[in-house]
Amino acid sequence: MTATDPKKLFVKSYGCQMNVYDAQRMADVLAPEGFVETQTMEDADIVILNTCHIREKAVEKVYSELGRVRELRKERNAAGQDTKIVVAGCVAQAEGVEITRRAPSVDLVVGPQNYHRLPDLLKQAEARRGVVDTEFPADDKFSALPMPSAKKTLARGVSAFLTVQEGCDKFCTFCVVPYTRGAEMSRDMDAIVREARHLAEAGIREVTLIGQNVNAWHGKGRNGSASTLGELLYAVADIPGIERLRYTTSHPRDMDESLIAAHRDLPQLMPYLHLPVQSGSDSILDQMNRKHTRDDYLRLIDRIRAARSDIALSSDFIVGFPGETDRDFEDTMDLVRQVGFGSAFSFKYSERPGTPAAELTEQIPESVKNERIYALQALIMDQQTAFNAATIGKTVDVLIEKRGRHPGQWTGKSPYLQPVVVEHELHTGDIVPVEIISIVANSLNGRVAGPVRSAHIS
Ligand code: SAH
Ligand code: SF4
Ligand code: F3S
Repeated sequence: MTATDPKKLFVKSYGCQMNVYDAQRMADVLAPEGFVETQTMEDADIVILNTCHIREKAVEKVYSELGRVRELRKERNAAGQDTKIVVAGCVAQAEGVEITRRAPSVDLVVGPQNYHRLPDLLKQAEARRGVVDTEFPADDKFSALPMPSAKKTLARGVSAFLTVQEGCDKFCTFCVVPYTRGAEMSRDMDAIVREARHLAEAGIREVTLIGQNVNAWHGKGRNGSASTLGELLYAVADIPGIERLRYTTSHPRDMDESLIAAHRDLPQLMPYLHLPVQSGSDSILDQMNRKHTRDDYLRLIDRIRAARSDIALSSDFIVGFPGETDRDFEDTMDLVRQVGFGSAFSFKYSERPGTPAAELTEQIPESVKNERIYALQALIMDQQTAFNAATIGKTVDVLIEKRGRHPGQWTGKSPYLQPVVVEHELHTGDIVPVEIISIVANSLNGRVAGPVRSAHIS
């Protein structure tokens, strides 16, 4: 390898936005070592699988992908090249050394808290296969980590994720996140505002604040004491150039007054909220250790809608949690009917080793889970279709992302994250009012209905 021949890095991410963000961080840590990112696994000197442990299926995907990478490496070895295989993310954290037993081809297993050590760990992996680092740091998990560079973020479009919080202290009984991502930790407001300003200067127009429990954010504010996500949103909204704000994922218990007020006061804060409820049955919510009732959730939705009447809601649901009766499931269906969601995700309960719910005796048969998820997804799909149909004839602001499939077309997102296609002379980053005319598949089509707010103002 010569100096003009950079080493190539391929990162494949599974799971949530935290992993998308971490993928950029890993690339940034390895850039000074001479690595550039490639979009194809075939020519990579290092393949990092950035994994998710949330459901059994997610984990199985990783092991089958590892088989494929091993074959690729064989081909490259035959051509006199090598590939280092790295498992990162939440499976790495949860299974650690077990991965190297099940997949001896793996060179390195590294947990999400230790990406800053990647260069050093890769050197160790040169000497021997199967290096494992899943230590949790004792102190601030943010301090050692470089944040992704704005330049890279820009290359990915007009909107960016910004991590403000990591980890979770909620311990829902079904969930692995508190074990894979560790205790809850918040970055300071100043550091977040600095990064957001940086992103704005690099052309980013939409920022999504992310964290496993983003609305539990309680970082140091301007006056030196713990602040709230609501206050943080006001501070980020002040930054010139940031036209749209979002945050995800929230817990109903942490939706406080300041956050609801932000929805009322900040035009930049998009009227779309992902607020997972998991179940509509009080007894299941209790078994899940969610620490809120069905009624708490419904009353919270009322308060949010009173603050911002055009808000669209989204949620996560689990069906077939241990002990879930037909009646419990009906309560979930009923909650969905009462709220009326713009979209929602639903999952069959998956038993996760080490979590309290896995110990419960009354596991639900797969056939019952299948019936329930089918019914729930049909109801959610009806609501989503109705929500999309209701936008016909309305004018919505669209943040333009890229050219569409056909010449002259541009695509972007509505405030409700719906994909919108429009024919007009536009630019990436423009915000344009679009009157919605029709819906094809899940995508809205419309025509420009007012002046374009250009991204190229200065
Ligand atoms: N921190 C977020 C998201 C956690 S993971 C939150 O609290 O909402 C994303 C979703 O995966 C969860 O909301 C839940 O619906 C689902 N999930 C988590 N563990 C699961 C399990 N063991 N089986 C099935 N779905 C699960
Ligand atoms: Fe998991 Fe519950 Fe924490 Fe969400 S709040 S990450 S579901 S433990
Ligand atoms: Fe999956 Fe880890 Fe995110 S388990 S959902 S990648 S925090």
